[in-house]
Amino acid sequence: MKIAVIGADGQLGTDICAAVDNAGFELVRLTIEHIDVSKMESVSTVLKEINPQLVINTAAYHHVEQCEDNPVKAFEVNAKGARNLALVCNDVDAALMHISTDYVFDGKKRAPYVETDKPMPLNVYANTKLSGEHFVEAIAKKYYVLRVSGIYGKAPCIGKGGMNFVELMVKLSREREEVRVVDNEFLTPTSTAEIANQAVKMISSDAKYGLYHVTAEGSCSWYEFAREIFEITKPNVTLNKAAPGEFAVKVNRPEYSVLENKFLEDQGINVMRHWKEGLRTYLTGE
Ligand SMILES: NC(=O)c1ccc[n+]([C@@H]2O[C@H](COP(=O)([O-])OP(=O)(O)OC[C@H]3O[C@@H](n4cnc5c(N)ncnc54)[C@H](OP(=O)(O)O)[C@@H]3O)[C@@H](O)[C@H]2O)c1
Repeated sequence: MKIAVIGADGQLGTDICAAVDNAGFELVRLTIEHIDVSKMESVSTVLKEINPQLVINTAAYHHVEQCEDNPVKAFEVNAKGARNLALVCNDVDAALMHISTDYVFDGKKRAPYVETDKPMPLNVYANTKLSGEHFVEAIAKKYYVLRVSGIYGKAPCIGKGGMNFVELMVKLSREREEVRVVDNEFLTPTSTAEIANQAVKMISSDAKYGLYHVTAEGSCSWYEFAREIFEITKPNVTLNKAAPGEFAVKVNRPEYSVLENKFLEDQGINVMRHWKEGLRTYLTGE
């Protein structure tokens, strides 16, 4: 199978390329140098020339504050980009695997969200990502939409300035005597290598087309995430909980965005491990 990966030099795209390549599929890496998903002409020309059987789209405009200030650009990349890909994938008879986000939810459920729960996005980024999902679901004949959460990977996260939360905590723990982290927002930290592994499992096992939650197992607050990072790296630093409101936030975000991989579980193909195991592997290679 020939697989084209868009956003190939990004945090998630890098690991997806490695996993696709290791699994023996024919891989075409596409970066912004090769394709601009927001431009129909670019998408059409490039994908028709490659003629892939599967397109994996990890490209996004996902800096949450910047999206709030540039809603048109956010819509162009996150929503129209998904629409362009869905239309061209139909033309070349390719399936589309499109990456979305836990931020489509408002967090009020306070229990893990399943794929059938109703989204309620709180900000521009989340609204445009949900629009992207809707375009894919309405247009693409063969698609997987994968909602991921709290991702970190070895390749820099380009859209958010390069540093993921794990690397930030490691850096701060070397520079400071005390690190303070919020304890009132809950997520499932997920390593991009684990998502890539799961994506390949889905492709290799002919998973049903549709919407999937793809996160590590379990959940934690950002404070608990930092505590586990320091459990493994053992820095000489004091970790404390930040006081409510200590860090100013400009944009509304869900305080709870834990997802359950229900559709993967239903098909017996959920290979995601507990978030603490994924974190240990990321930090130690074990
Ligand atoms: N990071 C998170 O915490 C998080 C959480 C939940 C969901 N997600 C989703 O996960 C996916 C992957 O995120 P990531 O962390 O891997 O992001 P990333 O490191 O910023 O990679 C995104 C890639 O998309 C490219 N790109 C941006 N605009 C493009 C366009 N118009 N056409 C083609 N390529 C374009 C970027 O290239 P340039 O920057 O060089 O232009 C970059 O290579 C995204 O869909 C994101 O919404 C991320």
